[in-house]
Amino acid sequence: MANDLKARDFLSIHDFTPEAIEQILDTAAMLKLRQKAGLTDQPLRGKTLGMIFQKSSTRTRISFEVAMWQLGGYALYLSANDLQLKRGETIADTARVLSRYLDGIMIRTYSHEEVVELARHAEIPVINGLTDLLHPCQAMADLMTIAEKRGRLAGLRLAYVGDGNNMAHSLMFGGAKTGMHVVVATPRSYPPDPGIVEAARSDARATGATIEVVEDPGAAVKGADVVYTDVWASMGQESQAEEKRKALQSYQVNSKLMALTKAEAIFLHCLPAHRGEEVTDEVMDGPHSAVWDQAENRLHVQKAILALVL
Ligand code: CP
Ligand code: NVA
Repeated sequence: MANDLKARDFLSIHDFTPEAIEQILDTAAMLKLRQKAGLTDQPLRGKTLGMIFQKSSTRTRISFEVAMWQLGGYALYLSANDLQLKRGETIADTARVLSRYLDGIMIRTYSHEEVVELARHAEIPVINGLTDLLHPCQAMADLMTIAEKRGRLAGLRLAYVGDGNNMAHSLMFGGAKTGMHVVVATPRSYPPDPGIVEAARSDARATGATIEVVEDPGAAVKGADVVYTDVWASMGQESQAEEKRKALQSYQVNSKLMALTKAEAIFLHCLPAHRGEEVTDEVMDGPHSAVWDQAENRLHVQKAILALVL
């Protein structure tokens, strides 16, 4: 298979063509199948990924570390607190130095601009492991999970219910590139970023996708194939938690809301979940939930991204 993704950064799904997104998803499906069949693929033998974390992580850290190991490479966990970054070394200089040791960098941080700056000065691919603006690796795992469960992506209705956050943004881009109908329901006080909505709508024109932003969660999930939610207060928003809990109360995904979807609809959550807030136990543990397969697919989709860009 031709690979035009070699040496590319993976900062946002918006930066890639629909064909490139499909190539990543196809590679992920193939790697997963081969792994389940007991086959070993080690295209990254001798390669090293540095993983910079400014925020906590369970899934991202473990899945990237295991992904590198399974592909024959090595991953280094770099806590931002221990790097000289914390003592004022610039991002640009950090990028230049890391480029002399590593074959790729994965970074999880607050400001998206910092990641763009790191990528600008790094001579090696940079992968976005979550910023306040976007979470593209998660959205890729979500697309993979939807395709596995429903056999396709184009034409499906995905309803995102809750805070207009990094997940909402990356799902809009993911849906736009794959021909989905994405409906985001948020309260007026916590909408998605209008610049992201506009960019996703512009991407959608090429694939027949649609991007809608509404206020009513019931209207969003009506006839949905996929219902998605995320925490109300993201990492870094701890001081707003109480205010957001009030504003988002009627956006909880519960059995009553799920009853409005298609009978075969699936429920997704990037995790970690705050059970009893944005989602009830009944839904998390119920028959529609695909959240554990979704979490597993972080591993497979990131193996595909790493194998293609490194
Ligand atoms: N979904 C996700 O990125 O989880 P972590 O914060 O545990 O990495
Ligand atoms: N929106 C959440 C996603 C966590 C994976 C956050 O940024 O904290």
